Amino acid sequence: FEVKWDAVAAEKGGYPHFMLKEIHEQPKAFKDTMAGRILPEKGEIKLDDVHLSKEYLQGIKKIFIVACGTAYHAGMVGKYVIEKLTRVPVEVDIASEFRYRDPMIDKNTLVIIISQSGETADTLAALRESKKLGARVLAITNVVGSSVSREADDIIYTWAGPEIAVASTKAYSTQLIALDFIALYIARTLGRICEKDFQEITSAMKNLPDQAKIILGHEDKIKSLAQKFFDREDVFYIGRGLDYPLSLEGALKLKEISYIHAEAYAAGELKHGTLALIEEGVPVIAPVTQEHLFEKTLSNIKEVKAREGFVVALANEGNEEIKKSVDDVIYIPKTHPILTPILAVIPMQLLAYYAAVARGCDVDKPRNLAKSVTVE
Ligand code: G6P
Repeated sequence: FEVKWDAVAAEKGGYPHFMLKEIHEQPKAFKDTMAGRILPEKGEIKLDDVHLSKEYLQGIKKIFIVACGTAYHAGMVGKYVIEKLTRVPVEVDIASEFRYRDPMIDKNTLVIIISQSGETADTLAALRESKKLGARVLAITNVVGSSVSREADDIIYTWAGPEIAVASTKAYSTQLIALDFIALYIARTLGRICEKDFQEITSAMKNLPDQAKIILGHEDKIKSLAQKFFDREDVFYIGRGLDYPLSLEGALKLKEISYIHAEAYAAGELKHGTLALIEEGVPVIAPVTQEHLFEKTLSNIKEVKAREGFVVALANEGNEEIKKSVDDVIYIPKTHPILTPILAVIPMQLLAYYAAVARGCDVDKPRNLAKSVTVE
């Protein structure tokens, strides 16, 4: 008698794909990324392998965030959050561009490198170039002992656990948490955030794991929405502020695993070209999580609806008004405005996943793509 078991199936823990398993691991990954790092009584963020002194940070003129792919999208969110909380200017660049463009950095630049694997060739080259030019390098990575972790001056591990699916999910959302920690750490050290705001953001962060679970509870609804557009050729994503990098990430997820042509635009850019592509039934995913920008994005949504596009909005719980102007809404629980991308990316991941499944794609190993690009 022989017990037959499939090692890969066992690793998937009952899920049909690693990607779905990893999407579902986000509540735990969020907890692990945050564990021990928020010290509310001291009003501090504790990052064991980060040693940026007040004197050093006072001398910083600019922060550069450099990464590839999904990690680059995390960097775009990071720019917004770091500038907002610290008032230090932040530039974000794609590693393969940065390394060949004679970047303007020196010892007064802090370079933040983001890489899930810590082995991406262009990202590693950007790290080395930054150090050569005298910058200090802080790395956000998920892999202990990776090249990036060995060569950086300071490190924040995302503690998301192994990520097997090529399309990044839990590594991305935990990179966003790490970037929030960097923003809070710098803002606190430089005295640019008051105690009240610090407490407000950090206590909202503590709710993220439970709120992620609530979103995962809406999986059936998201699945049925994906089934409404999986056979389309093109899908557009539009958003403003933090909803713009979120849109870029949503579009990347969809194109990499479902092979649907997906593009994201800053909602205000719609009129400058993309609107020409909107006709009856064209799916448009429109996150509206940034309340101060709601009216602006709403007017763009109305322009899409006037051309009979099929609009799915992604909104904060309690936003009833949006219902009147779109075909459907996915709600996310309320959090601090700078944290919304961490939650809002989950429905984006699920939409891409279920569209790819409906199209019969090899979700975990999309054609032509690799988990880690270690050659140029
Ligand atoms: C590949 C993966 C992407 C990832 C990118 C950067 O293209 O397929 O999911 O975002 O590399 O990888 P890194 O390990 O540096 O974050």
